[in-house]
Amino acid sequence: MLKSRISGAGMFVPPKVVKNTDLEKLMETSDEWIQQRSGIQERRWAEPGMTTSGMGLEASKAALNDAGKKPDDIDAIIFATLSPDMNFPGSGVLLQKNLCPQKMVPALDVRNQCSGFLYSLSIADAWIRTGMYKCVLVVGSEIHSNGLDISTEGRDVSVLFGDGAGAVVVEPTSDVNAGFLAHNLHSEGEHAERLCILRPSSSDFPRLTKGDMKIDRTFFAQMDGKFVFKNAVTRMCEVIHEACKDAGVKPQDIDFVIAHQANMRINQMVLQQLEIPQDKTLNTIQKYGNTTAATIPIGITEAKRQGLLKKGQLVAMVGFGSGFTWGANLMRWS
Ligand code: UT7
Repeated sequence: MLKSRISGAGMFVPPKVVKNTDLEKLMETSDEWIQQRSGIQERRWAEPGMTTSGMGLEASKAALNDAGKKPDDIDAIIFATLSPDMNFPGSGVLLQKNLCPQKMVPALDVRNQCSGFLYSLSIADAWIRTGMYKCVLVVGSEIHSNGLDISTEGRDVSVLFGDGAGAVVVEPTSDVNAGFLAHNLHSEGEHAERLCILRPSSSDFPRLTKGDMKIDRTFFAQMDGKFVFKNAVTRMCEVIHEACKDAGVKPQDIDFVIAHQANMRINQMVLQQLEIPQDKTLNTIQKYGNTTAATIPIGITEAKRQGLLKKGQLVAMVGFGSGFTWGANLMRWS
């Protein structure tokens, strides 16, 4: 049976830095509140002309370069995002158009919010294991900033999110001790409305009327923050235990954790509960906020660039978010 590994990683974040003190000028909030509650110091905001697929393109080029591959080497694209350029088609086809227009590779969009990248990795691994594809590009990219309610009414959500993109190249490995060991994925749709954007909605008849363009709160992300927080800690711990059991290892055997970046306190609690030292992870939320599907590939890229990922290490990736959906991937880094 073939195995697969991450052979390259890359990222792109918009140059515009928005500090907590900049948000103080837009709404009633404070640098102190944001840092204490979430760990965030600043985030990036895209500017007109930037797109989710365009940022994914830059991250993809960096990932391909890191893997020593060219765009035409790609056999398939998986694009995870909750903020696609268009309502349909998805951003994957736009990436294909701009990255490898001569090679009409399949492009799959994954709509799983904060765990979208983890779900996508499991698909890439499965495709490679069956021999269907040999080089899969997996991208997570989001533009949140232009969809946030940046008034005081929306402050509980809008201070948390940022824009950014990350990508990895997944390829086969002949090393039986390397690559992915376990993927554990879950959903609990009962809590869909605890973190969501309700409209426009296909359950409204008609979907849009002229009067709807009076924008109300149903067009902005809404979150039951405390409920999401508690579930995130519980589920992320649970799913790491589950992945470890499947791979025949213990959480304490994990050498490095790449966790979704929704809240620094969530990640600290998860590591504490699993008895994994806090220095065995890299948090990027201070600089980028929550970039949803992009947090994990950005984390992989930064950890790789800083030399924190070493051959043979047991690496766990874990995330939780809207849906609820959550998951963990365990791999032996190579
Ligand atoms: O990636 C998807 C998954 N997302 C998550 O996992 C996020 C999970 N939730 C969280 O990270 C946290 O619940 C938050 C960071 C959203 C909030 O932290 P909290 O410690 O749960 O605060 P809270 O919701 O209890 O709010 C406390 C107070 C409230 O005021 P009162 O009612 O106590 O007077 C809020 O109105 O803080 C107020 N508040 C703010 N104050 C200043 C809410 N947002 C802000 C703000 N600035 N931006």
